[in-house]
Amino acid sequence: MVDVQITRIQPDDVDGLTRWHALMREAYNGDRTAAWWQSLESTLTQFAHPRSDKSDIAFLAHLGEEAIGGAEINIVTDAPADVEIGVLPAHRRQGHGTSIARVVKDLLRGRTKLVQTETYCPEGVAFAQTLGLSIGIQENRLLLDLPDYLRDDANRYKNPDETPGLVRAPDPNLSITSWIGGCPEEVVEDWARLRQQMDEDVPVGDLTRTLKHAGASAIRTHEERMADQGWILVSSIAHVDDDSDAPVPVGYTEIMVSRHDTDIVIQEDTLVDREYRGRGIGRGLKVANMRQLHEIPEVAEASWVQTYTATSNSPMHSLNRDLGFYTADSMTALEGRVD
Ligand SMILES: CC(C)(COP(=O)(O)OP(=O)(O)OC[C@H]1O[C@@H](n2cnc3c(N)ncnc32)[C@H](O)[C@@H]1OP(=O)(O)O)[C@@H](O)C(=O)NCCC(=O)NCCS
Repeated sequence: MVDVQITRIQPDDVDGLTRWHALMREAYNGDRTAAWWQSLESTLTQFAHPRSDKSDIAFLAHLGEEAIGGAEINIVTDAPADVEIGVLPAHRRQGHGTSIARVVKDLLRGRTKLVQTETYCPEGVAFAQTLGLSIGIQENRLLLDLPDYLRDDANRYKNPDETPGLVRAPDPNLSITSWIGGCPEEVVEDWARLRQQMDEDVPVGDLTRTLKHAGASAIRTHEERMADQGWILVSSIAHVDDDSDAPVPVGYTEIMVSRHDTDIVIQEDTLVDREYRGRGIGRGLKVANMRQLHEIPEVAEASWVQTYTATSNSPMHSLNRDLGFYTADSMTALEGRVD
């Protein structure tokens, strides 16, 4: 029997990264419906220009000439490392996943204490548990049929009275600012503060919470990196003017459109400050932000919007359902100690 060979792909090995990217995509997405995977172009840029606080590492596993599995490892300063291990379906339950995990563990030992992983299938959960990881949180992956949504939205624009479900009477104290691309200078401090609040508030279940520093300069660095990787950022922020000195920033939402892979548009974070929940601000933000998609030519080729919502987050589930999202599958995140 041929032994499995596991080799590290160098960040400038474009052919190797291309083979590895295709294999990981197949191992993870196999028979899933409308499953998203980062585009090859974004992945190559990510490896060629690593973040200063992050190392991205790729391993490919071979049986003879045939690639059968792989791993992606992201080691982030002051945060648990992220690890993804994939084995092609025809080669599963033969110990290859375990062999790859052993190589990953050797690499991580001494570099990080905690490791996290995400999986979309029961075998992935069973495998990670065998390695000593425990379930931290489960989230539903939701999809929205985008052409249908945008068509209905265009009609809503023309006849707002005919679709009462999605558009509520605007709160006179609420203002929403929306933009495509870089955050306008006049709201960048508010934007940075809310993003930091999101890190503190987002449900993480039993996972270790990571707080990132998100000052205005970190926001600008992030925007540049995302643009380099081909992402168009579509954003909205809400302010409430309740007779205080200045309008208070109370929430935000963000969508990402990939120039390289337009099929699935990503609905990222949505946050409304706890004190301002229940006033329709989350709905207002999401509807205003999705309305901007009409202006992005790449979106004409998109089929879906994808978002993740923790199974326990019922207010966000009911808002998403109202907008037309439905559950496609679920994601389980697990965590464990490297030693
Ligand atoms: C998870 C995955 C990598 C496992 O690869 P694999 O090569 O089949 O794993 P191994 O053969 O080394 O299995 C090791 C142990 O994991 C557990 N396991 C793996 N698949 C399982 C399944 N379908 N049902 C129950 N337990 C399973 C078993 O305990 C197994 O030991 P055993 O075969 O002696 O009972 C593979 O199924 C995969 O690529 N899934 C999609 C990607 C993913 O979800 N990755 C998990 C996040 S890291």
